[in-house]
Amino acid sequence: MAASFAPFLLFFLYSTSARSSPSLAPGDLQALLDIRQSLFDLPGSTFFSTWNFFLDPCASFTGVTCSSDDSNFNFLRVSVLTLGTGLTDSPGLGGTLPHSISNLTALTLLSISSNRFLGPIPTSLSNLPFLHTLDLSQNQLQGPIHSSLLSSNPSLKVLLLAYNGGLFGSIPSELTSASNLLHLDLRGNSFTGSLPPLPATLRFLSASLNSLSGLLVDLSYNAFSGAFPLSILALPLLSSIFLSHNNFSGDVSLPFSSEPMPRWAVVDVSYNMLTGELPAGLAASATLYLNGNRFTGAVPEEYIASVHNGSMNTLYAQDNYLTVFSRPVAAGMAVPAMASLCLSHNCMVPPAEATSGCPSSVQAQLPRPAYQCRATAGEIIFENGSRVGFLYRVGTTLVHEAEK
Ligand SMILES: *[C@@H]1O[C@H](CO)[C@@H](O)[C@H](O)[C@H]1NC(C)=O
Ligand SMILES: *[C@@H]1O[C@H](CO)[C@@H](O)[C@H](O)[C@H]1NC(C)=O
Ligand SMILES: *[C@@H]1O[C@H](CO)[C@@H](O)[C@H](O)[C@H]1NC(C)=O
Ligand SMILES: *[C@@H]1O[C@H](CO)[C@@H](O)[C@H](O)[C@H]1NC(C)=O
Repeated sequence: MAASFAPFLLFFLYSTSARSSPSLAPGDLQALLDIRQSLFDLPGSTFFSTWNFFLDPCASFTGVTCSSDDSNFNFLRVSVLTLGTGLTDSPGLGGTLPHSISNLTALTLLSISSNRFLGPIPTSLSNLPFLHTLDLSQNQLQGPIHSSLLSSNPSLKVLLLAYNGGLFGSIPSELTSASNLLHLDLRGNSFTGSLPPLPATLRFLSASLNSLSGLLVDLSYNAFSGAFPLSILALPLLSSIFLSHNNFSGDVSLPFSSEPMPRWAVVDVSYNMLTGELPAGLAASATLYLNGNRFTGAVPEEYIASVHNGSMNTLYAQDNYLTVFSRPVAAGMAVPAMASLCLSHNCMVPPAEATSGCPSSVQAQLPRPAYQCRATAGEIIFENGSRVGFLYRVGTTLVHEAEK
């Protein structure tokens, strides 16, 4: 503990020394000192070795970037603070984030990712008018998201809270009016309840590996059931949609197919119980995962065209009940080398090009057994959320076949 008092003395040395160029504002210096005293390098980490309070923090501290203070040209303010290396394989920092972090009111970016910080998200992490990026991911933070985090950081564009495990509670309804938010990553926590309506600005959202449920819906590895949430596809700026490993059922008939579709980076609806024909409108996805559903009919020509013109680079539709894959009219056109297609385990023998991208766990080109294709009205049997078998009818006899 004795060592932690040394910076206090050094602080007075730095702050009272005469200097002609602008120096760090005293409030920011005090906050850095408090941060330094609250946190520590874990064994193997040397992050704080440059934090020598004899020297100018703006010129010498790792992780600190300063900008001029528009309201007082005698001072600099901390505008970027990155604590730790941000690398998941480095030992990182430990401790509990002090409230004084929010005294750094000129911050535009605060990143503490990939450390071992404990405790709650500081309740005072609000009223940071310029903060556009807040990355608290990959720590051991616990507790709720306070509504003020979303309501009183008006510039917030990127909010990363992924993989803390212990963040819990519902997502505050203030999310809806976070009108600059582009990117929200809530993965790998313990959030519950339903998602409030999303701000229209959102381009990336992931909330998989939580315990979310409810009517309004997104996200992979949850327990959503019922009809496919078409409203998500209508969000004009969402760039990726992850709905895999839920229990969505029914058709995916896009009501707005004549309008220009948004262009999605990734649409993942794999491992649900979706039925009916594949929606042509999803041809506007660079990566499209449809595998592990109960889709029937033909692979839409629009998908095949998108693969051939290079706008779709991954199409996974294995483990469905599809019956037709037709090459484009201009026969002989090769599938681009970088495209990955997988249409195995459907009710057809797909051409080799349509199985070339299959993951190694999938047996290339192997179609479903014929009985399954005769009985597409049969039931897939789920146990503990996993597919374990298939129930179909031969005449009057009900047959139960275990999934291979
Ligand atoms: C942070 O600001 C508050 C309010 O202005 C002040 O009371 C507190 O001492 C400051 N903390 C540090 C560590 O400078
Ligand atoms: C590729 O084909 C799709 C048809 O599915 C079309 O919408 C898209 O505009 C085409 N892109 C390019 C770059 O030609
Ligand atoms: C389902 O869970 C039960 C207990 O929770 C377990 O005994 C059983 O083996 C599980 N079945 C499968 C297929 O995982
Ligand atoms: C999935 O939804 C169906 C109804 O659509 C329901 O019968 C079934 O129990 C659900 N399965 C799981 C694992 O939630």
